[in-house]
Amino acid sequence: MPRPDGLTPARAARRDFLRRLPALGALATLPTRALAEEARLLTRRVPSSGEALPIVGLGTARRYDDATRPEELAPLRATLERFAAQGARLVDTAPSYGHAEAVVGQLVAETRLRERLFLATKVGASGREAGLAQIEDSFRRLRTASLDLISVHNLRDTATQLATLRELKAAGRIRYTGLTTSFDRQYADFETTMKREQVDFVQVDYALDNRDAGERLLPLARDRGMAVMVNLPFGRGRLFSAVQGRALPAWAGDFDCHSWAQFFLKYIVSHEAVTVVIPGMAKAGYVDDNLGAARGRLPDAATRRRMEAFIDAL
Ligand SMILES: NC(=O)c1ccc[n+]([C@@H]2O[C@H](COP(=O)([O-])OP(=O)(O)OC[C@H]3O[C@@H](n4cnc5c(N)ncnc54)[C@H](OP(=O)(O)O)[C@@H]3O)[C@@H](O)[C@H]2O)c1
Repeated sequence: MPRPDGLTPARAARRDFLRRLPALGALATLPTRALAEEARLLTRRVPSSGEALPIVGLGTARRYDDATRPEELAPLRATLERFAAQGARLVDTAPSYGHAEAVVGQLVAETRLRERLFLATKVGASGREAGLAQIEDSFRRLRTASLDLISVHNLRDTATQLATLRELKAAGRIRYTGLTTSFDRQYADFETTMKREQVDFVQVDYALDNRDAGERLLPLARDRGMAVMVNLPFGRGRLFSAVQGRALPAWAGDFDCHSWAQFFLKYIVSHEAVTVVIPGMAKAGYVDDNLGAARGRLPDAATRRRMEAFIDAL
């Protein structure tokens, strides 16, 4: 029988859960695992450590770049609080994203969320001294003594920077090392580097309308025991433009998908090699929507092909 409020049972349960979320002050005393379990966010394990991570994280490129005024920082603080309150953890940033590292550092300090978050940044510099200086700046801007992950940004001076990152890991200042790219033209070099170097994480672009990384890089990461973080899951909003004015297909309900954002994200996280996807989010409403992709069922192989055919036909 239809509900009087018109919601499906899954949506009603999710709304009720969001309404029950305690105030952040109360949440500060709850351990992360308990939060993730209460929120029932799906997790995947980092292959090199076995650590479980909620499969949806948060990207900070562009929208966190130049926020300085209180009215610009307030929605970002609300976004981060909403994200952590639901048990999500991974925040991705980089020294090249304008003031994003400093903004994240300020907000994490003000909200006292450091212990509950997994902070990932990058090093994009040439030469050992320049790399070290940039990394020390990242620690300062992010206001933390230890970072969870630093990756070599877009293969810049990889051998030199990876040597530094391994020293930092051995010294206990970072927990994981990684490599990133978001360019097809770097894939061949990225693949060679993945075969040569042992890192904990790789970060690549992969989306329903940008599937090239799924052919070689994602299977290679699985074979090499590397966690995969997916960037540009919406193609910087390109996918939303592609479906503008279109209704979600009815069969999306078969995998607990209630929005286009969840359609795009569930496609990504249903790839067996993917550990976590990092949509750019600067609005609390986006957090509620996007974390829905970390709940309920995920599309199976046949449904993934149907999703690809759907988007290819637009
Ligand atoms: N090489 C690298 O290492 C590399 C390269 C690129 C990106 N990255 C990382 O990947 C992250 C993601 O990339 P991105 O932020 O550039 O692009 P994206 O995640 O593909 O798209 C983000 C945009 O999608 C829109 N959006 C997000 N959630 C939505 C929702 N639920 N409903 C409707 N619209 C929604 C927002 O647009 P509006 O803000 O306009 O509303 C947002 O800015 C970056 O933030 C960064 O951390 C890394």
